[in-house]
Amino acid sequence: MQTNISLMGKILVIGAGGQLGTELTKALADKYGKDHIIASDFQDAVKTKFDYCTFYALNVMDKAALEFIVTKEGVTQIYHLAAILSALGEKNPVQAWDLNMGGLLNVLEVAREHKIEKVFWPSSIAVFGPHSDKDNTPQQAFKDPNTVYGISKLAGEHWCEYYFNKYGVDVRSLRYPGLIGYKSLAGGGTTDYAVDIYHKAIKEEKFTCFLTAHSYLPMMYMDDAIHATLQLMEAPKENISIRTSYNVSGMSFSPDEIYQSLLSYYPNFEIEYQPDFRQQIADGWPRSIDDSNAKKDWNWQPQFDLKAMTAAIVDNLPQYFNYNKNK
Ligand code: SER
Repeated sequence: MQTNISLMGKILVIGAGGQLGTELTKALADKYGKDHIIASDFQDAVKTKFDYCTFYALNVMDKAALEFIVTKEGVTQIYHLAAILSALGEKNPVQAWDLNMGGLLNVLEVAREHKIEKVFWPSSIAVFGPHSDKDNTPQQAFKDPNTVYGISKLAGEHWCEYYFNKYGVDVRSLRYPGLIGYKSLAGGGTTDYAVDIYHKAIKEEKFTCFLTAHSYLPMMYMDDAIHATLQLMEAPKENISIRTSYNVSGMSFSPDEIYQSLLSYYPNFEIEYQPDFRQQIADGWPRSIDDSNAKKDWNWQPQFDLKAMTAAIVDNLPQYFNYNKNK
């Protein structure tokens, strides 16, 4: 069912072609009506994903181009998803910092100057580090991020809070765990293995995992991530008590556990472990997350555990990617 957003304005999604953006943009179009959605991405090639709404090629580092779209289209909300993730960021630290910080500051400034009603910006479990509590990590846990991505997310959280306190910009944020969906591949993250493993299992190929068998990390099925995002953005302003970013939890599992969940569908599926530099990143992150603030403030409740997620992905992915399950 569609609801009209306030003032009949438009929502601009920046980084719409990415793993999260692909699904969130569609969910926003389904919820608010496709005429209210503007997709944008720095890669013009992803335009083909957005035959249902207006699309712009946009580099978020180009503030004038961002302002042009906001003014021309009458944008009243921005979802800014473009970032370089943890693993790729370690290969290009300065570039990751420039994009992750510069992009956010451009969005916050445009939001301030153009009186944008609401902004969404994703943070991550990467804000935590080796000395954070590992289990049921609290909202306010000590944070010593050890990746450029994590440092940029932690700094970004404080910029969001600053723009809210100083200028009244209604910016809201979630600390996503690893996101797992079947409609888009992940790219450049430490939790990507949990997306890739499904493709290998379904294609009946051996999977080489870049983390060890028992690296336990917080994860979330994409449907839950979309649900959490829409719920947060719909919540009354006065309910939002956290203006840095909310802890949100879905499930936690290790590579061995996701492998076991796939064996019941693909009994011959094989895995081998070849941990690389991403192991050190994973070792610095929480194993599970305490999201009681999200539950209290806007009734967050995840729906998917590992078993339900695997069932949903095995059911949908082969057809979505045109893999022949019985070959
Ligand atoms: N999924 C992200 C990554 O692995 C964490 O936010 O970098």
